[in-house]
Amino acid sequence: MRLSKRATAAAATCLAVALVASGCGGDKDSGSGGGGNKNVEVFTWWADGGEKAGLDGLVSQFKTDCSQYTFVNGAVAGGAGANAKQVLASRLQQGDPPDTFQAHAGAELTDYIKAGQIEDLSQEYKDWGLTSAFPKGLIDSLTVNGKIYSVPANIHRANVLWSNTKVLQQAGITAAPTSLPEFFTQLDTLKAKGVATPLALGKDWTQQMLFEAVLISDLGVDKFNGLWNGKTDWAGSDVTTGINDYKKVLSYTNKDRDTFDWTDAEKLVMDGKAAYQLMGDWEAADLDAKGFKDYAYAPFPGNADAYQWLADSFVLPKGAKDAEGTKCWLKTLGSAAGQKAFNTKKGSIPARTDAVPTDYPKYQQSAIADWAKDKAVPSCPHGSACSQGWQGAVNSAQGKFSSDGNVAALQTALAAAAKQFAVTS
Ligand code: GAL
Repeated sequence: MRLSKRATAAAATCLAVALVASGCGGDKDSGSGGGGNKNVEVFTWWADGGEKAGLDGLVSQFKTDCSQYTFVNGAVAGGAGANAKQVLASRLQQGDPPDTFQAHAGAELTDYIKAGQIEDLSQEYKDWGLTSAFPKGLIDSLTVNGKIYSVPANIHRANVLWSNTKVLQQAGITAAPTSLPEFFTQLDTLKAKGVATPLALGKDWTQQMLFEAVLISDLGVDKFNGLWNGKTDWAGSDVTTGINDYKKVLSYTNKDRDTFDWTDAEKLVMDGKAAYQLMGDWEAADLDAKGFKDYAYAPFPGNADAYQWLADSFVLPKGAKDAEGTKCWLKTLGSAAGQKAFNTKKGSIPARTDAVPTDYPKYQQSAIADWAKDKAVPSCPHGSACSQGWQGAVNSAQGKFSSDGNVAALQTALAAAAKQFAVTS
């Protein structure tokens, strides 16, 4: 795959600043307790803020557990891996894999398995006692033909509505909206009170997230889940309703959204220029890392019983330079201590079922409780619902819709993408 201009620029910037900046490949971090000289390059897109804080937490555990190895930070900045995934694809194609990389559980991981790019870890699962450490549903999303291919670091929730409590207070809004009609009323109130951007939004993948949250409200959990396995028709009238509602939601967002990453939209909320933002719960960690306190969270309106999940998992690529070092990394991140070191800082909840909720910040405690009672729905932009090809097709359809607002054209493009990519069951 050829690199886009943006990814090429990101990689070039990383090369230029590799030795001085964090968040780019080449940040060799041997650490005080380390001293090992066998490098383990860990490839992610966790370059800043709460994402980097989570990675740092895990690295400190790695230094303790795997002191004979040296962590090498291969992060390529850009939310949801927008740049990283292209750099990774090109490296895999050239036979130059990092020692391990971040891949989303579900359809996205299956892409790498089908391409023969990652190793079976079933034996390691047995050796490390992981087979019963994670929920069965999650293990299923890491398994193909009976073989388990990655170790999950966490479970994130995508469909969370974040707010600036001061902005809401000033507009007289005292409770989170629980339905789309209630949400529209609040957004109108915020507009009337002079809030420049009632709802902050970013580019392509963040628009996919917002659209999916609206679809969950309009379709409900079962029909939404059916969109990904051929049971719900993308050309149906309820999807048309969803697109129309989404179009209305878009009218309350910032016009420069297509140039924004999720952190730019988050900044509008922090600066009090926006009241709300739909984003995954990495936002909790990021707001904390940035010292912003006036925030609240709730499920997106109409999504109360739906936990839209995604999981970051790490793999052993075929041809990794140091397979033993990678295994030490994977063992650490699958351990109770590794999951705690990572997730307390990342905004996600541990994938392991033996975690102690009181070890976690307030947001994660509420998320752990919700995960236990809500119904699971997957996310396409974060790989649990759909392959990377499908993600790309939806991204470009969303990009067009963001500028032309053509409901029929979006629905036709989405139905065509499903026809091309859905794995029916
Ligand atoms: C997701 C990833 C999260 C978080 C987010 C924003 O795809 O799973 O861990 O990093 O992107 O970059």
